[in-house]
Amino acid sequence: MNRRPLPTAVLISGRGSNLKALIDAHDRGELAADLRGVISNRPRAAGLEFARAAGVPDFVVDHHAYPDRAAHEAAVAAALDRLAPELVVLAGYMRVLTAPFVERYLGRMINLHPSLLPRYPGLQTHARVLEAGDEWHGSSVHFVTPDLDAGPVLAQVRMRVQPGDDAGGLAARLLPLEHRLLVGAVELFCTGRVQWRNGRVLLDGQPLQRPLILEDDGSMR
Ligand code: GRF
Repeated sequence: MNRRPLPTAVLISGRGSNLKALIDAHDRGELAADLRGVISNRPRAAGLEFARAAGVPDFVVDHHAYPDRAAHEAAVAAALDRLAPELVVLAGYMRVLTAPFVERYLGRMINLHPSLLPRYPGLQTHARVLEAGDEWHGSSVHFVTPDLDAGPVLAQVRMRVQPGDDAGGLAARLLPLEHRLLVGAVELFCTGRVQWRNGRVLLDGQPLQRPLILEDDGSMR
């Protein structure tokens, strides 16, 4: 599909390796996004350097500088709205969002979550997979709705748990898969193949019946 690059903003809190994956894909000409800006709630987030190196405007909205969650979110929303994004990507953004903020960007905000949702919303997903003795782990990109990590899942990548895996090892093995998953999902949105309409996710104009799966060959099926 031939379209104008989609105005996109990315929210981060830390390392920013997924942001870097988006920037790299964009620089390779593989992402139809206009990366308008990166916002971090942490002034020392390492990922800010990736934005700076790529010439993507970066903004810090430090949550410690605001009296409460609502005030911080209002400042993030103000910074976001100046970028006029049509897509907001939460890439390792570690703040729980309130319903008013989520509703403001409903249908145009997606999050990367390190589990095969609906399993393991919230934190410590790798450890919880191991505790449960699951055979499979993975990561999901989902639309953000007011309930934490519970919005419709657009795409997932799956990875087999290996004997001897610990939580750190699982996270490290999953990370490069997450990079590919996020790039693929953002591209689907930017090209208009995936759309949100009245609370439903459409793929190529049809309701998405189940999450797309990122295959080893890089395709999403
Ligand atoms: C990823 O594992 C993502 O699933 C989770 O936070 C991590 C972010 O990593 N939400 P990075 O900051 O993009 O390197």
